[in-house]
Amino acid sequence: MSQSSSMIGITGLTHSYGTREVLKDVSLSIARGEVFALIGPTGAGKTTVLRIIDLLETPTSGEIIFDGRPVPQSGRQRLEMRRRISFIHQKPQFFDSSVYDNVACGLRWRGEKEDVISNKVRSILEIVELNGCDGRDARTLSGGEAQRVALARALVLEPEVLLLDEPTANLDPVSGAKIERLIQNIAGQHRTTMIMATHDMSQGQQLADRIGVLIEGRLVQTGDATCVFRSPRSEEVAGFVGMENIIECIIVANKDGIATAAIARGPEALMIEAVSDHPKGKEVYACIRPEDITLAPVTHQSSARNSFQGMVANVASSGPLSRVEVDCGFPLIALVTRVSADELGLEMGLPVVADFKATAVHIIERSTDR
Ligand SMILES: Nc1ncnc2c1ncn2[C@@H]1O[C@H](COP(=O)(O)OP(=O)(O)OP(=O)(O)O)[C@@H](O)[C@H]1O
Ligand SMILES: [Mg+2]
Repeated sequence: MSQSSSMIGITGLTHSYGTREVLKDVSLSIARGEVFALIGPTGAGKTTVLRIIDLLETPTSGEIIFDGRPVPQSGRQRLEMRRRISFIHQKPQFFDSSVYDNVACGLRWRGEKEDVISNKVRSILEIVELNGCDGRDARTLSGGEAQRVALARALVLEPEVLLLDEPTANLDPVSGAKIERLIQNIAGQHRTTMIMATHDMSQGQQLADRIGVLIEGRLVQTGDATCVFRSPRSEEVAGFVGMENIIECIIVANKDGIATAAIARGPEALMIEAVSDHPKGKEVYACIRPEDITLAPVTHQSSARNSFQGMVANVASSGPLSRVEVDCGFPLIALVTRVSADELGLEMGLPVVADFKATAVHIIERSTDR
């Protein structure tokens, strides 16, 4: 059956809280075994999508197909579908009892025998690297441990669909990395269909087969990570995925797929060259990721298609990277390693050359923005 490849199908989903429409015409199909990341700013509607897929919430309109069958409004079939899904909430809540009891409770509700439960709970605690913690009071766990217990509690029920809401939010980087590794193992070994909501773009990029960008209740783009991060469809998506340089331009020439774009706001005659089919006259944004811009001393002979001389306007370092703002008559933001920032002696007022390739420029039409 062709439907068997799609585990979850959502069509024309709209949801309102009171008079506020928080999801607008969302359509999405998630394949069996796929790991899908829903990314978007706070309040975009990510949790609401997960709650609707978990059948906790009934959408105002739209249809959900679960494993080839439409989800009914109520009744036994809906309950049976719910049992095939597990939802890990952003802030997991535990019963005031042991880790073992918290992980076992779902199996108890299902009427499993205690010896079966014991085997399953112990093996799942091993997977999440919490063997030996079964007797601990679940309410005394650290954030990372709690998230792993939540994962164990969900996985012990062997769900076909696992929903994860911000699985690593509020965790320190080491605990977060551990959770990410577990998620990756589960996806690899069990082929569980996973849908995760995350603010963290790099997490989406790293873990998911496909990414969906949700902005103000609309699913504005879906695709693999490269497509979403390198070729965002709109200015909003570009901004959200870290294309920090979004420059208003107008295409003044196009020769053999190399477009010349004049910068709209700024001094005359500054041009950006981009690999693009957009024709002369189009109003566009030229988008460049800050990590695709290199900085060099003004004496440097550049071979890049785009080379602008400017003055360092700001340097902000965090960890191994420095974010450098260069005033080239228009602002350009470059991300360079701290080592090269030190080598260049980057400081405010220093003249530099900012280079980037024509292939690093992604062009978005301004008219298709919203
Ligand atoms: N039960 C509710 N009643 C009324 N409004 C709600 C309810 N739940 C969510 N909302 C509103 O719906 C919108 C979407 O919320 P949702 O929690 O789905 O966003 P989100 O993308 O998960 O955000 P975050 O990244 O902060 O978790 C928000 O504006 C929120 O205030
Ligand atoms: Mg949320």
